[in-house]
Amino acid sequence: MAELQEVQITEEKPLLPGQTPEAAKTHSVETPYGSVTFTVYGTPKPKRPAILTYHDVGLNYKSCFQPLFQFGDMQEIIQNFVRVHVDAPGMEEGAAVFPLGYQYPSLDQLADMIPCILQYLNFSTIIGIGVGAGAYILSRYALNHPDTVEGLVLINIDPNAKGWMDWAAHKLTGLTSSISEMILGHLFSQEELSGNSELIQKYRNIITHAPNLDNIELYWNSYNNRRDLNFERGGDITLKCPVMLVVGDQAPHEDAVMADSGGQPQLTQPGKLTEAFKYFLQGMGYMASSCMTRLSRSRTASLTSAASIDGNRSRSRTLSQSSESGTLSSGPPGHTMEVSC
Ligand code: BEZ
Repeated sequence: MAELQEVQITEEKPLLPGQTPEAAKTHSVETPYGSVTFTVYGTPKPKRPAILTYHDVGLNYKSCFQPLFQFGDMQEIIQNFVRVHVDAPGMEEGAAVFPLGYQYPSLDQLADMIPCILQYLNFSTIIGIGVGAGAYILSRYALNHPDTVEGLVLINIDPNAKGWMDWAAHKLTGLTSSISEMILGHLFSQEELSGNSELIQKYRNIITHAPNLDNIELYWNSYNNRRDLNFERGGDITLKCPVMLVVGDQAPHEDAVMADSGGQPQLTQPGKLTEAFKYFLQGMGYMASSCMTRLSRSRTASLTSAASIDGNRSRSRTLSQSSESGTLSSGPPGHTMEVSC
């Protein structure tokens, strides 16, 4: 009998007719580490934090977040928040290639640019959404400025510096692979890459033909030279805000949750991520339950019971809320939410 095969389906639910994306305004500010560009959507909402995003290596805010922020069900959420999408230096559309010898900021310095953005916009608090390198940068920012971060959504974060084994593997791969293939291997699992779906073709094309590939390599180098975030369970170095940890089901080391993961759930699973984000905001008191879709409401019951019966981390469990989340947070119960997409 033919074996059943799991097929990866990218969720699609574009904006409805009449739902138009809000106008965007792009700004640049000077910082001690060079200039940084960011794009603001929507208008500030009184007594609400801004949603601030930070993208992964090889991407910019649009290629990383557009499928999520333009997902149909996401609109009822984001219309309640102003959004600030940061492009790492040299990653913005039309960026000039940095001159030879340019000292690209470290991930810690990229985090130190965020206060300049918030000061320029006169925003006092944020909910951060970061992917990969962007998740690391936002975590570093939150450790340094805990009072300004109300919540964090961390997708595929690796909080650790590369160990010598990782370096050896990296060097070996570098002998046979181009920078763009190495970055694709960071973003997606080998299974996804060999499947060569339309999504993979699209991102392979974007990265391979990026006019700013030299800049991308500099961001990649900063990512690979990151230091440990040094989270300590119960110690002084912890994230003080609620955290939603997301790991792609296509991640090669999914069991480790915070290992360097492939898979981009914000591209392939915007519906699941939207739903989880809605619960997360609700937990923070920002979404009335009347805003939940019928689907979300029926899933809440099943997800809640699944989480309470099954204490183990398992692939079939989509969402759980606990205080037991690797080494990222040691806050009160319900402070951290883990999502596997
Ligand atoms: C937003 O509405 O925040 C958004 C729109 C397009 C791309 C990224 C974000």
